[in-house]
Amino acid sequence: MKLDSVQIRNLRNLQHVTFKPSHGVNFILGINGSGKSSILEAIHYLGFGRSFRTSKHKNVIQNEQESFTVFCECLEDSTTQRLGLSRSINDTVSVSINGIKGNKVSDLVSLLPVQIFTPQSSDILLGAPKLRRKYIDWCLFHVEHSFLTCSSAYSKLLKHNNALCRKQQVGYANPQRVYWTDLLAQYGSQLTEFRNGMMTRLIPLITSNLAQFLPEFCVEISYYRGWEKGLELNEALSKAADRDYKNGYISVGPHKADVRFRISGKPAHEVLSRGQLRMLVAALQLATTQCLMSYTQKTCIFLLDDVGAELDAAKREVFIDKLLESNTQLFVTAIEEHQLEFIDKYQNKKMFHVEHGQVREES
Ligand SMILES: Nc1ncnc2c1ncn2[C@@H]1O[C@H](COP(=O)(O)OP(=O)(O)OP(=O)(O)O)[C@@H](O)[C@H]1O
Ligand SMILES: [Mg+2]
Repeated sequence: MKLDSVQIRNLRNLQHVTFKPSHGVNFILGINGSGKSSILEAIHYLGFGRSFRTSKHKNVIQNEQESFTVFCECLEDSTTQRLGLSRSINDTVSVSINGIKGNKVSDLVSLLPVQIFTPQSSDILLGAPKLRRKYIDWCLFHVEHSFLTCSSAYSKLLKHNNALCRKQQVGYANPQRVYWTDLLAQYGSQLTEFRNGMMTRLIPLITSNLAQFLPEFCVEISYYRGWEKGLELNEALSKAADRDYKNGYISVGPHKADVRFRISGKPAHEVLSRGQLRMLVAALQLATTQCLMSYTQKTCIFLLDDVGAELDAAKREVFIDKLLESNTQLFVTAIEEHQLEFIDKYQNKKMFHVEHGQVREES
């Protein structure tokens, strides 16, 4: 999917912005506070239904306004789709797909695979396992049709089982509890199969990207599925039952899964510099766009905010080169033109200048 035109209304300092991006790479230049990240935020809303900077949609609406709207025309296999999302101050969301309103956010999001890389993206390695599970699940959402149903069912069952754990009167052998634990094990195993399959596809892609991005390191990647090796999930649930019943929550299962990155036996984030850490994240994100391309023929829209932060010129260049090789449509923001001195070689590109929320295409 490639964005053909983008319209943004009343989002942060962007009052009324319209632009026609290149299907290749788009460079967005402007001083601090001009509105560069807000443009990416608008596109991010189409791909995720939310911001990458805040969970408070209200703060994204321009001061004194009632709502913001992002609308785009995009092209896939020579058909044009018209997609729009609007959020209002009273926290309602409205999604339109080809003129038809009343769609769900997940319908919109499934049409437009968007990835974002910002200085905060290193959190995927530094933060909680949940962020790494999200990473795998994003790919699965776009690659496997039945994944969303399975993961939503698991989440609901987990909540229900946790509630039963907290109910002291429902003993471990209670048939009601056995029934719900069996179901949890069933969906949990299915979810784990999905994730195992995705990791098998992603690991070789990540490793091959790392050979170019961080050739000086050998990064070992391992996947922990969320419970003890050698046991089926229902066995692990039974083994942990006494403890879980006492603690009031289920302690084993795919909700505890994690991806681990190690260099010479140490956690990668303890070894790598900040810029190197960003390149590891870059290798991960590039792998998801490559995976999507090879398994679904879908292409990604990739947002690269503040490309100058912590990446030297050579690293910026190799990352953008590789993204373009995997046929992504790229939006790259930078404060100064000299951060992009290598871009002459790109054919399919456009340059936009942002000043006080106004966007001007360089001719
Ligand atoms: N709700 C809002 N209404 C109006 N303006 C806002 C709102 N929220 C933020 N702003 C302003 O929008 C402007 C654009 O912010 P943005 O983060 O997009 O800038 P930027 O160009 O990415 O800057 P930097 O280079 O510092 O990252 C800022 O001046 C900010 O103060
Ligand atoms: Mg910014």
